[in-house]
Amino acid sequence: MATPSLTLVGVGPGDPSLLTLSAVEAIQKATLVAYPVSKEGEDGIAAHVAALWITEEKRRLPLLFPMVRESEPRQKAWKEASEKLVSLVMEGEEVAFLCQGDVSLFASASYVLLYIKAHHPNCPIRLIPGITAISAAAAVGEWPLSLQNDHLLILPTPNDSESLKMLLDDAFRSNTVLALLKLGRRWTWVRPLLEKKGLLNDSLFAQRVGFSDENVLLASKVPATDRPYFSLLLIRQSWPETLP
Ligand SMILES: C[S@@+](CC[C@H](N)C(=O)[O-])C[C@H]1O[C@@H](n2cnc3c(N)ncnc32)[C@H](O)[C@@H]1O
Repeated sequence: MATPSLTLVGVGPGDPSLLTLSAVEAIQKATLVAYPVSKEGEDGIAAHVAALWITEEKRRLPLLFPMVRESEPRQKAWKEASEKLVSLVMEGEEVAFLCQGDVSLFASASYVLLYIKAHHPNCPIRLIPGITAISAAAAVGEWPLSLQNDHLLILPTPNDSESLKMLLDDAFRSNTVLALLKLGRRWTWVRPLLEKKGLLNDSLFAQRVGFSDENVLLASKVPATDRPYFSLLLIRQSWPETLP
């Protein structure tokens, strides 16, 4: 019998057909499937995406990862979740911890990984990468992310328009394509700024990629209203000289 282990599994952006074969195998092999939730009693989004493979005989474990700014409750949650996962592996469970998108990109799985490597270095752990929302958005929008000498910068959307303006100016100077995550409500002021800079037709807006209400379209077609947390923006201000 193989030694029980913990597998951090990226389940992709939302469409169950975008789980990798390795992700599906890890979930099928697991005796216990854990997943992050932001509130008690909530159904985790990662669990929802992987629902087809979380069969009835498996134990399920929602783990609280509160979405707050303060450090203390977040560190407490990372510690509690990681300790729980390690103790389950010690008890002999084969554990899969699910993570929406990729396990290494703004992911709860990264906090689990860092904590366990620091405090339980002997706990067997492995990671399965997932398709990121950025790659999925680029594919749906038929939008090349980066080419030749382009740079690609992935970051959360800045909190104010002055910071975004500076970012856009720097990106223009350095041939950098921007992938702005956590767009949501910021869209109400991001759109007018893009319009002012003439960038609405150079920006791809993607909302809930991979879900049944997916919406991926040029930013010019999206009104400046609040958007869900699962929304992002890709901005390209220039193209390489040599193109087909
Ligand atoms: C905490 S990050 C998680 C990123 C995720 N680990 C990944 O690899 O895509 C959450 C942000 O990713 C973006 N995002 C994640 N899934 C998305 C989706 N299905 N559609 C659009 N944006 C998404 C949104 O910008 C959201 O605010």
